[in-house]
Amino acid sequence: MRRGALRRRAGPGAMTVALALAGACGVLRAAGAGEEDIRLKDGPGRDLATGRCILCHSLEYIPSNAPAMNRAAWQKTIQKMKERFGAPLTDDEAKQILDYLDGSYSGKSS
Ligand code: HEC
Repeated sequence: MRRGALRRRAGPGAMTVALALAGACGVLRAAGAGEEDIRLKDGPGRDLATGRCILCHSLEYIPSNAPAMNRAAWQKTIQKMKERFGAPLTDDEAKQILDYLDGSYSGKSS
């Protein structure tokens, strides 16, 4: 009797976990597939940006945001990656990446 009650309570919980895991795997697989095709434009800072920005998400975030970006917007974004999400960047690295993104991926005039 007691065991039955426990099992009934565990049921929906286990299902939720399974669904959450399945969802997470789908997201990871999609990001992995996209990354293979993405190579940032050549330029000083490219390798640094590639190495740092791919840590958490696809590099596709960079070109796909470029049309709406300018130097100030990139600065804010890099700052957000660092402060809110914990991207490991020194001030010097953040500046090099900013110079690179501003030079290669700023579609909006400042
Ligand atoms: C520590 C993890 C982490 C690192 C490292 C990181 N990002 Fe992000 N980034 C995120 C998360 C999480 C989001 C999703 C934010 C959201 O949903 O608002 C994101 C979203 C973005 C977006 C989408 C627009 C936005 O503001 O949400 C851009 C552009 C972006 N990142 C650029 C970069 C660049 C450029 C770098 C390298 C300097 C970088 N990210 C490194 C975690 C990271």
